[in-house]
Amino acid sequence: MSTLIRNGTVVNAHSTFAADVLIEGERIKEVRQGIPSNPADHVVDATGLLVMPGGIDAHTHLDMPFGGTTSSDDFETGTRAAAFGGTTTIVDFAIQGRGTRMRDALDTWWKKAEGRAVIDYGLHMIVTDLGGAGLEDMDEMVDEGVASFKLFMAYPNVLMVDDATIFRALGQTAKNGALICMHAENGGVIDVIVQRALAEGKTAPIYHALTRPTTAEAEAVHRAIAMSEIAGAPVYIVHLSSEDALNEVREARDRGVPAFAETCPQYLLLSIEELERPDFEGAKYVFTPPLREKKNLGKLWDGLKHDHLQVVSTDHCPFCFEDQKILGKDDFTKIPNGGPGIENRLQLIYHHGVNEGKLSLNRFVELVSAAPARIFGMYPRKGVIAAGSDADLVLWDPSADHVISAKTHHMRVDYSMFEGFRVKGNVRTVMSRGEVIVDRGQFLGKAGRGQYLKRQARGGAWS
Ligand code: URP
Ligand code: ZN
Ligand code: ZN
Repeated sequence: MSTLIRNGTVVNAHSTFAADVLIEGERIKEVRQGIPSNPADHVVDATGLLVMPGGIDAHTHLDMPFGGTTSSDDFETGTRAAAFGGTTTIVDFAIQGRGTRMRDALDTWWKKAEGRAVIDYGLHMIVTDLGGAGLEDMDEMVDEGVASFKLFMAYPNVLMVDDATIFRALGQTAKNGALICMHAENGGVIDVIVQRALAEGKTAPIYHALTRPTTAEAEAVHRAIAMSEIAGAPVYIVHLSSEDALNEVREARDRGVPAFAETCPQYLLLSIEELERPDFEGAKYVFTPPLREKKNLGKLWDGLKHDHLQVVSTDHCPFCFEDQKILGKDDFTKIPNGGPGIENRLQLIYHHGVNEGKLSLNRFVELVSAAPARIFGMYPRKGVIAAGSDADLVLWDPSADHVISAKTHHMRVDYSMFEGFRVKGNVRTVMSRGEVIVDRGQFLGKAGRGQYLKRQARGGAWS
């Protein structure tokens, strides 16, 4: 089957141009002006629309166990919501259980996705234990297309690993070309501050933020980068939230160190006051790292503009307010950490970035699609509108108005972190490997059509 997209404006990370796009089967065949409509089975008129590579969300947690509950979107509801928002690829996280093999975790997450995923998906592996055959397991994962590993410097006794483990993992990636993704917060220090707060009877959601200072993030970012330098491997800081942490990444990059970092819409658009909402509603904004003081927001936008930050992901990790966030009613440490956002990333970054003049259109595409594709070993199959690439694309209507709300969103969660946000610019049509999966607000995809992506080691972080 072939589809011709006519009269659109193609936007890639490095160019914007008027062109038609011919799709044959699952791939883009040709991109140029004046492609004849004759042989195409379908012709789509994209007059007035932007034709962009589908969004790539490199940080999601679907069907993830956490704190005695499980994130409320599974691979079907989560990827469906992603598609509605113009995201055509995600990279989710499998979690190695302590004392178990990474292969077990990979099998478990493949099963979670099988028959459910609507769009293509890759997997990072969260490493909790490098004892026994851990280093060999990392190589085996790379062979399976798991080209990145997440390590936690926070959550002692749950996910946190010590510096020796981090350093050994970095050393292994120096050999096998995978990328270490770091949750950078000093978990030991934070734990002491948290215990003090609880002992003083400080149990409300706001104490989640007040017990996790930006310096604990910056210190861990500094340490992570230092260890990566010693090991001779790049490092990618996930969900960076503060100016203090950003300064560490910028300083390293200025010295030519291959340090990379992502931030998320919540850190760009929301601040710590959200956690003070009455009636326990602050719990809706409990995730880690926490929301910061307002003065950080502009610094993060500047970081995106000037390439001190390379990627915007969501860290989508939804828990319903009514029956999940409530677990921490009397103790903020029991509030499941995470917030929803997989559906709104492109809308929010386009509106507040491009429309408000903080980002060029090309930088927008770089941040939400091309850079994650490159860094995580999917480029040029994903992340670009070019002949030979997968036909994952979004027809974007820059004049469409939309109000974000839990009443209309497709994520399986009973609130929106961005309730009432008005955006201009939204998805008209979404194609995944040549198939229309969303058109004018209608879902046309199918659960299970999404494929596991074997990602390449030595992606863009290595070049
Ligand atoms: O609070 C968060 N971010 N939950 C998801 C797990 C993580 O650390 O990314
Ligand atoms: Zn994390
Ligand atoms: Zn996360």
